[in-house]
Amino acid sequence: MKITFYGHSSFGIQIGELHILIDPFITGNQLSKDKIDINDLKADYILLTHAHQDHVLDAEAIAKNTGAVIVSNFEITSHYEAKGIEIHPMNHGGSWDFEFGRLKFVNAIHSSSFGNGEYGGQPGGFVIESEHKNIYISGDTALTMDMKLIPGSTNLDLVILPIGDNFTMGIEDAIRASDFVACDKIIGCHFDTFGYIEIDHEEAKRKFYEKGKDLMLLEIGESIEL
Ligand code: NI
Ligand code: MN
Repeated sequence: MKITFYGHSSFGIQIGELHILIDPFITGNQLSKDKIDINDLKADYILLTHAHQDHVLDAEAIAKNTGAVIVSNFEITSHYEAKGIEIHPMNHGGSWDFEFGRLKFVNAIHSSSFGNGEYGGQPGGFVIESEHKNIYISGDTALTMDMKLIPGSTNLDLVILPIGDNFTMGIEDAIRASDFVACDKIIGCHFDTFGYIEIDHEEAKRKFYEKGKDLMLLEIGESIEL
């Protein structure tokens, strides 16, 4: 499993020959738009955590380029289905066996509306179980007790958490979230993209390190193998 950071909360996950894209927001991200060309991105599936612009901006263009299937909550997939895009609707607590592995849509505490105000259903996160590796992508969320439900069913190898504060969890709550989900290997996201969420990278890593945890802050375009 290869995980590539495209800035903000956008990630590519390659599992075998399959490409999964999470929350593509690149052309509107000042930090990403000159480094990543959305026409170069491969996608068989696009997973959307919620409808906010900083998570879905490039989903339509990439889906139309690639023929990718958009996977999200019922309301968000209905929005894209009306544009002629192939979709797979889910809702909270549900799992499905995709060709890349098992995917579960789990709770997040946040909001979810499209840029034009259209209702985007309830926000969520994803648990992916594949190739004997399990990862949790929380999406934009507050720290929530529901996170404690995840390690009851899944032993996580990696967790992707927002750490930028203001709109989502900040560093302290992300550290607690990693305790709640019982996973000490964290990739941080949702930081630095705009003024409200700028962070001190070294301080963030040190705070996780002091709790025995490994926080990775990837450069835009950087990949890790899991
Ligand atoms: Ni959001
Ligand atoms: Mn966001």
